[in-house]
Amino acid sequence: MTELPDFYETVAEEILCKCQPREGVWLDLGAGAGGVAFALARRSASTIVLVDPNMDSLQKASGLARESGLERRIVPIAAPAEAMPLPADCIDLAVSRGSIFFWKDRAQGLREVYRVLRPGGTAMIGGGLGASYPQWARQEFTRRRHEGVKRKGADAFKRFQEARSSQTFRRLAEEAGLIDFEVDGDGGADPDTSQAGLGIWLRFRKERKGV
Ligand SMILES: C[S@@+](CC[C@H](N)C(=O)[O-])C[C@H]1O[C@@H](n2cnc3c(N)ncnc32)[C@H](O)[C@@H]1O
Repeated sequence: MTELPDFYETVAEEILCKCQPREGVWLDLGAGAGGVAFALARRSASTIVLVDPNMDSLQKASGLARESGLERRIVPIAAPAEAMPLPADCIDLAVSRGSIFFWKDRAQGLREVYRVLRPGGTAMIGGGLGASYPQWARQEFTRRRHEGVKRKGADAFKRFQEARSSQTFRRLAEEAGLIDFEVDGDGGADPDTSQAGLGIWLRFRKERKGV
């Protein structure tokens, strides 16, 4: 089977292009072993907090941080999105790729993201491979992913598609009390379309006080 190229660099590229964040303290939520966090760290001078409930993944991220000399800028914290042990107003950029689909209470996770954002900070939450990831690889990645989910049955595929639809993302944002937000894409796009693998992203900003 053809090996597909790494997508973390193209995801980081898209996040930076869309969010234009200021340097400071950034959050990778549901970071896993930190694929997105490391790609962002290589493109910035920011400190990146990795939040994930899975200790094994965070330990892997810590090891990678030491190996790549980034340990002073990579801060792993074991916690779920729904209850982050972070103070309010401390994060300049919050990103989360491929994780919201696993949160037990997605609206509460989004409320938490809003709480920890610094006024003026931006969040980009969802999933996708990045617009500059080659189209053939986006399509092939999506084909394999869809085939995998379909093997679990028609209901599983329906739930997979629903969780990634723009309607679901809008509903969750509204449930979380977000007023000003954008939803880009359609995470369920068919593998044969040019939109395949571009994913679905929710973006919002915390207003500066008094603005
Ligand atoms: C598909 S992985 C994505 C990991 C990483 N963001 C990436 O792009 O490689 C999903 C991650 O979400 C994490 N996760 C599951 N439930 C979560 C929750 N309630 N809050 C935060 N992260 C969660 C999992 O532990 C896992 O690391």
